[in-house]
Amino acid sequence: MSENRFTDSMPMGQEEYTDLLKDILSARYQRAQPLAFVHTYGCQQNVADSEKLKGMLLQMGCALTESKEDADIIIFNTCAVREHAEDRVFGNVGALKALKRQKPSLLIALCGCMMEQEHIAEKIYKSFPYVGLVFGTHVIHRFPELVFHAVTSGKRLIERGEDDGRIHEGIPIHRDGSFKGWLPVMYGCDNFCTYCIVPHVRGRERSRRPEVILREAEEMVQAGYREITLLGQNVNSYGKGLEDAVTFPQLLRQTAQIPGDFWLSFMTSHPKDASRELIDVMAENPKISSHLHLPFQSGSDRILRLMNRRYTVEKYLEIVDYAKKRIPDLALTSDVIVGFPGETEEDFRQTLELIRQVEFTSLFTFIYSPRVGTPAVKMEDPFTHEDKARRMGELLKLQEQISARRTASMVGRQYRVLVEEQAREGILNARTHGGVVVEVSGNVDLIGTFGTAEVTEARNFILRGSLLPDP
Ligand code: SAH
Ligand code: SF4
Ligand code: F3S
Repeated sequence: MSENRFTDSMPMGQEEYTDLLKDILSARYQRAQPLAFVHTYGCQQNVADSEKLKGMLLQMGCALTESKEDADIIIFNTCAVREHAEDRVFGNVGALKALKRQKPSLLIALCGCMMEQEHIAEKIYKSFPYVGLVFGTHVIHRFPELVFHAVTSGKRLIERGEDDGRIHEGIPIHRDGSFKGWLPVMYGCDNFCTYCIVPHVRGRERSRRPEVILREAEEMVQAGYREITLLGQNVNSYGKGLEDAVTFPQLLRQTAQIPGDFWLSFMTSHPKDASRELIDVMAENPKISSHLHLPFQSGSDRILRLMNRRYTVEKYLEIVDYAKKRIPDLALTSDVIVGFPGETEEDFRQTLELIRQVEFTSLFTFIYSPRVGTPAVKMEDPFTHEDKARRMGELLKLQEQISARRTASMVGRQYRVLVEEQAREGILNARTHGGVVVEVSGNVDLIGTFGTAEVTEARNFILRGSLLPDP
């Protein structure tokens, strides 16, 4: 399945801690391979970080488990993007108390974006005395050292560190999937959208060197990965600050030139930096999936300005039109926020209008959630949660109609698909470039392979089809 590799050597000193931990942990937990449970909240950036934590845990001699009850080490990698995400973490950490009582040697660690907010890290530390280790996103490369101190000192440890603006290569990775994999190309974000906590918890934007990315992509293709997704909060601004000036479209083109049968995807694109060159590279390289995730957030220029998004609806539609012209069967997905402070009924109507005009393949929809430390929390907001929930209902209904039309229009046509999982006995879920699922009959051996699906039927948003043999 997934493996454990180095792209460079591990960050200074961490190898020594890792070696020491092999004996320390197995003695502490009385097993040759202590069991670690890692749960991830939030976006793919966090998923990619958890894959590093898992890589490091395996190097310490641990095995991974899906069961909290069996685990010797429990790690929650948290997300701070909306209140709901934070509430889930608080609830789930609360539920660990009983496990810690049963097994006092259990190490509970919390990390990720929530921990980079001082008030949250402190609240957790105070409210949950059985949490032994709290660490932020900036010190994840020192995980072995932190575990070492947490288990040998007998004290609780809280480590948040400053954003040193550096990238620490060489951390082992244990990927969750065996044929779909994430590949971070950059970290952090410099955009400071006024509602968003990410730049505050992830630090300044920095890009990985292209040769490291290409080497990792090559390794993934050789290991059998069929879909590689290049990751960053705003991949279109990739390359700033690198010694050799490389743009994202150039990186994308170079990655697509790696020999082998794979799909290359990327996310997220910020509309202010999405260029025609990017669309041209997508159009010209068959390995690059014809899926563009291009969050618009709002269809009102007034709200976009208040959000500090730095594009207008006109500019957004211009790049969308160009992409639709250049890329046949383009799958366009997006994020939208309903109820940004002061969003009027008229602003909201403009959001609906944009959705109607663009006809997205699918939408990720969010009700605005105030985040401490961001400028938007101080903006006046006369609208109630009920107003916002009603608007959200209306928006979802509109998108449902669009999606239904779109899926119906796929009937009778053929699509290249990646077979992903078993839906039920004899039925597999295959996914198109744009993430549309088609149910096909077939054997589990086909999971992780490409095929062509002929769509025969659309019912309740589920597409059925048959898998055609490759010519
Ligand atoms: N970097 C990506 C998105 C990161 S967060 C981008 O710029 O597109 C993912 C999505 O969460 C955002 O696109 C936005 O729609 C939503 N989001 C972020 N902060 C939010 C908040 N405070 N309230 C509601 N939704 C939010
Ligand atoms: Fe947040 Fe904006 Fe950065 Fe995306 S681009 S992570 S929404 S600040
Ligand atoms: Fe959440 Fe952090 Fe991602 S706040 S959305 S996990 S970058």
